[in-house]
Amino acid sequence: MLLDAKKNKYAVPQFNINNLEWTKYILEECQEHGVPVILGVSEGAARYMGGYNIISSMVNSMIKDLKITIPVCLHLDHGSYDACFEAIDAGFSSVMIDASRKELDKNIEITKKIVEYAHPKNVSVEAEIGHIGGTEDNITSDMFYAKVDECERLYKETSIDALAPALGSVHGPYKGEPKLDFKTMKEINDVLPIPLVLHGGSGIPEVQIKEAISCGISKINVNTDLQIVWSKAVREFLNDNSVVYDPRKVIGSGESAIKDKIDELISIFGTEKVK
Ligand code: 13P
Repeated sequence: MLLDAKKNKYAVPQFNINNLEWTKYILEECQEHGVPVILGVSEGAARYMGGYNIISSMVNSMIKDLKITIPVCLHLDHGSYDACFEAIDAGFSSVMIDASRKELDKNIEITKKIVEYAHPKNVSVEAEIGHIGGTEDNITSDMFYAKVDECERLYKETSIDALAPALGSVHGPYKGEPKLDFKTMKEINDVLPIPLVLHGGSGIPEVQIKEAISCGISKINVNTDLQIVWSKAVREFLNDNSVVYDPRKVIGSGESAIKDKIDELISIFGTEKVK
């Protein structure tokens, strides 16, 4: 999926899922456009939905029952060491091992162990270097920028399939204009043959997204954008319909907001170039 995106200069979206409805809306909309999609699952979202096996079964059943024919990747987002093993055993097709808070040597050691377990099972591995700021799953982090030589070492010593170098993006809403380090992004792309991943994809202006793709970004993670549009739609629906109590109507009132946002992002990411 990502190698084609890297070659043809577009990005595959990773949309994080929160429940059955979100998963369904994302799959339906990406199928409608004929574009590949990565369903991202954070550890918090996995706990919320009941566990990796539940999610894996749900996604596989949905692909079958909804007759989804686009390429779908089920990916663990920011996994800890133990969570990576659990997700792989449950049938996830890809995991991100996030050992980015450790010293480089330790990050390499941990990442390598995950690659050794994942690759024979045909599961791809993303790793992170530097540290993405902001708040995700109620965990707030400071930002540290990735360095080119460290990215090169991490790749060469682990054989990861994709790398998320932290270069100024944050999880959650940006305070002011995002300041991505495109120069370093390009330098990393020049020395690494693998696709690069941009985390914190919500709220980044279109010109910066396009520049990031031209600097080697082939996967863009989006969570907050869909959460914001869904919550706004549901809030308005509830304000306008004070007697409604059917959960299908409440949750479903955010469906078109999610699908419209996906349309917009797919177009900015150039994902339809896959055709
Ligand atoms: P946002 O919530 O800022 O879109 O970030 C998502 C993300 O990077 C998931 O790993």
